Amino acid sequence: MSELPDHVRRNRAAWDRVAADYAVRVEGQWALDEPSWGIWGTPESQLGMLSEPLAGKDVIELGCGTAYVSAWLKRRGARVVGIDNSERQLETARRMQQRFGLDFPLLHGNAETVPLPEASFDFAISEYGACLWADPAAWVPEAARLLRPGGALVFLTNSYLMTLCVPEQDGVAATERLLRSGFGMYRFEWPGDESVEFHLSHSDWIALLRSSGFEIEALIDVRPPAEATTQYPFVTLDWARQWPCEEVWKVRRRR
Ligand SMILES: C[S@@+](CC[C@H](N)C(=O)[O-])C[C@H]1O[C@@H](n2cnc3c(N)ncnc32)[C@H](O)[C@@H]1O
Repeated sequence: MSELPDHVRRNRAAWDRVAADYAVRVEGQWALDEPSWGIWGTPESQLGMLSEPLAGKDVIELGCGTAYVSAWLKRRGARVVGIDNSERQLETARRMQQRFGLDFPLLHGNAETVPLPEASFDFAISEYGACLWADPAAWVPEAARLLRPGGALVFLTNSYLMTLCVPEQDGVAATERLLRSGFGMYRFEWPGDESVEFHLSHSDWIALLRSSGFEIEALIDVRPPAEATTQYPFVTLDWARQWPCEEVWKVRRRR
């Protein structure tokens, strides 16, 4: 464990610690026929995260956690592999595999260095997984390495705008004020929290994605449905209906 980068070691400890509580709500996600995304359960029909043809394709979920996204991919006929940094999260995923009778490989490891050959996959996805908790300078080029030319990467994470507006105090929702500089955003360590997050400005995402071999096809500002609810305290529905609190990037490996 000592050879892991500091943020990977810390995030492993953090996710191992919360995994049992997190597991309580995932069975419903596993049971869904129609995917719903992010903290508001925004429907797939609105975001098209899985709009690629996936049947028979090789796909990987980077930071799969409890692997309900991988389950949705498997049901769409994909050959899916999930990788996650937390063995406790993967225990939940394995339990769900048994519960729902779905089997696919789950790797315990760091999505920044995946122990699989280059050009192994047609599609890579992350929903609040590696795209939030892994170092973009490492996981984005690694995703490019894993994808075949023409392969797609789709990820959903906190929006740039909301990250500017969230107070440091735990449990306090995003404000209508810009609380930090929009320049140089990268690694975040919130007070009292052992985990490490990564948030980039749009221009920094674009520069990194392009220099890693991706073309950008879409950046979607997620607007939750009017009646949506969330258990997360860092943003209100009123805020999220006015400004995007989540964003989806759809990019494609250059041919
Ligand atoms: C919010 S969960 C998202 C996964 C999935 N959508 C879910 O909700 O179960 C975040 C996951 O990212 C994983 N993670 C964090 N850093 C990682 C890394 N460097 N490599 C792979 N997984 C990582 C955590 O272990 C955790 O299971």
